[in-house]
Amino acid sequence: MEKTVQLYEGKAKKVFATSDENLCIVDYKDDATAFNGEKKGTIVGKGVVNNRMTNHLMQLLEKNGIPTHFVKELSDRETLVKKVKIVPLEVIVRNITAGSLSKRLGVPEGVKLSRPVIEYSYKDDALGDPMVNEYHIFAMNFATPEELSEIAGYALKVNEVLSAYLLEHGIELVDFKLEFGKTSDGKIVLADEISPDTCRLWDSETHKKLDKDRFRRDLGGVEDAYLEVYRRLLG
Ligand code: TMP
Ligand code: ASP
Repeated sequence: MEKTVQLYEGKAKKVFATSDENLCIVDYKDDATAFNGEKKGTIVGKGVVNNRMTNHLMQLLEKNGIPTHFVKELSDRETLVKKVKIVPLEVIVRNITAGSLSKRLGVPEGVKLSRPVIEYSYKDDALGDPMVNEYHIFAMNFATPEELSEIAGYALKVNEVLSAYLLEHGIELVDFKLEFGKTSDGKIVLADEISPDTCRLWDSETHKKLDKDRFRRDLGGVEDAYLEVYRRLLG
């Protein structure tokens, strides 16, 4: 399958059409941004890590009953995926306090939550992806109640499967962001990526950050952290 026209260029990926109207090719870049594009940089090799890690985890999730957009890995940075219409929500799942939850609720990072927390943001860069709740989502027709309950069910199942799998590899899944899409036949599937860009991943022994927070917070060792996660899961 070959790329035809570029459909979209995002902050970390490009999406191309193919000769099959139901399939696209995603091409992962090394570009990194944070704080809604305010901070820009490059994480050398990130595109390869994120592409291969995403595909590895999507296949694990498929085996566990979660439908995904994954079709076939084409190269280090390119993957064939089902064409979907993205549901305009970032679905965030949290197991341990960190990031914006710690800020919002005034709790230190690293406190285990007594149950997982789901949050939704409306995907709109110009607005800075504002947090929304079910009432906004239904009133604004971002998703129907049926679609959202399916999405939330998948998100919690993804959390169970990935938390257990990552822990086997010495990684704590602190929190993560998912995106879902709708295929041409109306089915909701997991889309986008699952990578150190979109998850907080801490070493389960030392609690060392092995994710994009190293870039966001200028902690150094960014490339090494991405490679360490890659090595543990695919090495
Ligand atoms: P937050 O604590 O900043 O709200 O982030 C929660 C999780 O979502 C964290 O694992 C990082 C991920 N995330 C993204 O993937 N994209 C984003 O634009 C943001 C803000 C967070
Ligand atoms: N990728 C997002 C941006 O550039 C934010 C983040 O991941 O922190 O806005």
